[in-house]
Amino acid sequence: MLRSVLTPVAVLAALTACGDVEAPAGGADAEGGGLAAAGPLSGEQVYLLYCATCHGEAGDGQGVTELDRPARSFRDGGFSFGNTPEALFRTVSSGIGGTPMPGFATVLSEEERRAVVGHVIALGPEQVEVDENATELAVGARAEVVRGGLPPVVDGLDVVPRGLLLGNTDGLTFQYDAADLRLLAVRQGPFVQRRDWGGRGGDLLEPLGLLVWINEGGTPGPFAMLDGRTPLTARLAWTEIDGGQAEVGARLLDPAGTTRATLTERGGAAVLGDLAGFRRSIDVEGGIAGLPVFLRLSTTAGLERLGPERVRVDGAAGPMVFEVSGGSGFEGLAEPSDGVLGVALRLDAEGRATCDIVCIPLASREQAETLRMEGF
Ligand code: HEC
Repeated sequence: MLRSVLTPVAVLAALTACGDVEAPAGGADAEGGGLAAAGPLSGEQVYLLYCATCHGEAGDGQGVTELDRPARSFRDGGFSFGNTPEALFRTVSSGIGGTPMPGFATVLSEEERRAVVGHVIALGPEQVEVDENATELAVGARAEVVRGGLPPVVDGLDVVPRGLLLGNTDGLTFQYDAADLRLLAVRQGPFVQRRDWGGRGGDLLEPLGLLVWINEGGTPGPFAMLDGRTPLTARLAWTEIDGGQAEVGARLLDPAGTTRATLTERGGAAVLGDLAGFRRSIDVEGGIAGLPVFLRLSTTAGLERLGPERVRVDGAAGPMVFEVSGGSGFEGLAEPSDGVLGVALRLDAEGRATCDIVCIPLASREQAETLRMEGF
């Protein structure tokens, strides 16, 4: 097999050597029929030579190369950049900017790229028929992640060119602006319609769920801040699907561009009393011990305390109840600067902190009464 000819390390060295990488020819004689003479490689051959080091021979994402983020497993078929042959061909040709996924446009011929796409699709679950022009992507047994341009959550706002949708199996969709990662809205119901798989590009994704919450009128401030004043840019670093839940990770950069910590967020359904809402579970890691990190929740308009870590505010999209809790590094609700409500964290000795934010959109201010805790 080809695998025995070229070690993964050699392939990677060839790849990272930049520029034109020739299809490796060494040792092919021993296999009977040199590679160069044999014409284009088959999809499986290309895969084993160029992809398996990161994505794993079986496509399970468990390659031998250590990456700062997992390479995609192809076995589940959930492709965040589109799952049609055309969309995969574009991903394989151009790579994914800002990730270790290289582009193969100069390394592999078009025929070889199309062949390896066929192999990647074959590694996945049974093919679902897709219409290249309009495809509703539904969340099935596993969560889904889709990236692409998004229409504004509120009429009159700008289009979000780098949007991100995390669809969980509980029927909630978390809609983000991925340019400086912040949650824009939460939806409930069907997932997304995508029209940009036909190779035309430019078309926006169309989230299908009903809006259950719009964060600060659709233009929230930066989610993470140092000490509550200095905004941290949240640079999208990875997304991951763990069964029914999708997760997004970002590096938190200070104004000088230094990474101060990483932030992971996963959302899910939640209830408080008998009112339904959603939960944001946040992990901040990899910072120096004692680093103060503030997570912005809303403005303090109409702020009313309902319990030790439970408040009601009059958000731009209506009244909301927030309840926060956390583990190590969690300090509680805070109003670090005028008019802003959030959660204060201080990274523990391991340089991490976790918190859980339960958000309950209310139909009326009166609903909050039922959530008032006596005698706190
Ligand atoms: C150096 C490691 C590396 C190599 C080599 C590599 N990949 Fe990737 N690939 C990645 C990583 C990491 C990601 C995930 C990027 C992200 O979204 O964070 C990825 C993502 C992808 C995706 C996108 C999946 C989606 O969600 O849409 C496809 C398709 C893909 N790779 C195909 C290939 C193919 C085909 C090859 C070989 C021709 C290949 N990759 C080689 C690291 C690699």
